[in-house]
Amino acid sequence: AVARARQAIVDHARLVPDFPQPGIAFKDLTPVLADPVGLAAVVTALTHGCTDVDLVAGIDARGFLLGGAVARELGVGVLAVRKGGKLPPPVHSVTYSLEYGTATLEIPASAVDVASRRILLVDDVLATGGTAVAAAELLGRAGGVVVGVAVIMELDGLDGRATIARGLGAHLPVHA
Ligand code: PRP
Ligand code: MG
Repeated sequence: AVARARQAIVDHARLVPDFPQPGIAFKDLTPVLADPVGLAAVVTALTHGCTDVDLVAGIDARGFLLGGAVARELGVGVLAVRKGGKLPPPVHSVTYSLEYGTATLEIPASAVDVASRRILLVDDVLATGGTAVAAAELLGRAGGVVVGVAVIMELDGLDGRATIARGLGAHLPVHA
């Protein structure tokens, strides 16, 4: 499945130069997910090596596309980790720094019992790792335990993996 996903990315991913800023090459996975073979390969690859998970958390917004599909494949439920201001109270909330400014992630505080759940965090791309660490902290605040991080693609040179190791522990499996 991992080899098939790799091939689907080679075949379908699109590089957009100078987006969102000059000098940055944006990796667009939209055509990979719009392809039936690509979507199946990527979703299966995201579950690779994943055992003993009882909840998937998909990160707003592109992680939503994958989280539900991965959860279905693993036979567990899915929780949306939302950007700030979308959920009715009560919520758990974490604000973290971006290169410019801050961002907030939220999950429901009482609608879903996250306590002691073993959670696979799913997103499309790992860049600096700030989003993944913030999401894991948020789930931890609700008593959940993130047991793995699965993304389609990890961007070189941004040290996302090292940031996750520092923030969440070097033992945590990160699958890209
Ligand atoms: C992108 C991407 C990851 C995150 C990775 O999401 O989908 O979620 O950035 O970056 P990091 O590792 O440096 O934190 P973005 O916030 O652009 O929003 P979107 O998913 O709603 O498009
Ligand atoms: Mg995102």
